[in-house]
Amino acid sequence: MSFTIAGTGYAHPVRTLDNEELTRMVDTSDEWIVSRTGIRSRYIATTETLTELAVSAARMAMDNAGAEAASIDLVICSTVAGDTKCPTLAGNVLGGLDIRCPAFDVNAACSGFLYALQTAAAYMDAGLAETVLVIAAEMMTRHVDWTDRASCVLFGDGAGAVLLQKGEGLLACRLRAQPDKKNLLVIGQGKSHSVFEETDAAPSVLAMNGPEVFKFAVTSMCRDIKEVLDSAGLGPEDIRYVVPHQANLRILETARQRLGFSEDQIAVNIERYGNTSSASIAILLAELVEQGKLQRGDNIVCTAFGGGLTSAACVIKY
Ligand code: COA
Repeated sequence: MSFTIAGTGYAHPVRTLDNEELTRMVDTSDEWIVSRTGIRSRYIATTETLTELAVSAARMAMDNAGAEAASIDLVICSTVAGDTKCPTLAGNVLGGLDIRCPAFDVNAACSGFLYALQTAAAYMDAGLAETVLVIAAEMMTRHVDWTDRASCVLFGDGAGAVLLQKGEGLLACRLRAQPDKKNLLVIGQGKSHSVFEETDAAPSVLAMNGPEVFKFAVTSMCRDIKEVLDSAGLGPEDIRYVVPHQANLRILETARQRLGFSEDQIAVNIERYGNTSSASIAILLAELVEQGKLQRGDNIVCTAFGGGLTSAACVIKY
């Protein structure tokens, strides 16, 4: 099936917000946050726009692949937090990268990067594109309720990108959605009105039932990973890294034990980033490549879950 990951890149804001600083904003402690989530610090945009972060990550991925702007047939961005609703984030990044090709956003919340990868694969399989730039970029701190200690400690900002070329690297992929659980994690639109009437919509801050999302995350992650491994005809021993959505270290540890992976097979950077929604897998992947931990030919499993509620997993030969 479809693509090879030819290049990877990432970017984050300059300013960090560590747990200590958060204790001056809400009633929490470094000990609580670290022991319940694994997070020690996160990046928070102050002067950067999301478009700038997305462009930086994309440039790094293109340089990493040695790809020219003119060779790119399609740009897909995953985000819940674009600088503008219209133009889309994908539309906004084109100018910064001097690319002229079709460009659109996908929004599947934290699962969005994997939804975008499968969309890119489908374009390639249909013969509509040979080189696709996929960027996942998020500014969750735009939507965080800074008075809600149960959620504001979790999120951070960042962007990751992959430059995909036609190849055989996507060994299996499965996307899911469970609408009966959609109210467990909501970011609304704020008060809205049309020419006909004014409606009270949910506020644009994030509201979440943490413990229920935790259960969904563990269950879906275990099921989705088993399914894509079966579909690829592989077992945990064939996988160099699980590259999971970084939401909570305890979620990853519980799933790891149930699935039979060793500790060093689970890639983690949550301590420095917190949860960057759909950007998290793309950032982690780029860091693994940059650190020389991922070699050509290694098999990885990516897995995500999030608002919708959505979930996704795929097996990729790097
Ligand atoms: N600091 C200190 N205490 C906190 C706190 C904080 N930041 N946030 C919550 N608490 C308190 C609660 O008020 C509660 O106190 P109580 O027992 O006196 O009522 C206690 O800690 C336990 O709360 P609970 O919500 O049961 O904690 P938890 O162990 O489930 O951890 C999350 C909370 C949010 C960290 C955890 O549920 C989680 O990570 N869920 C998944 C969320 C997620 O990944 N969302 C994104 C999906 S993409």
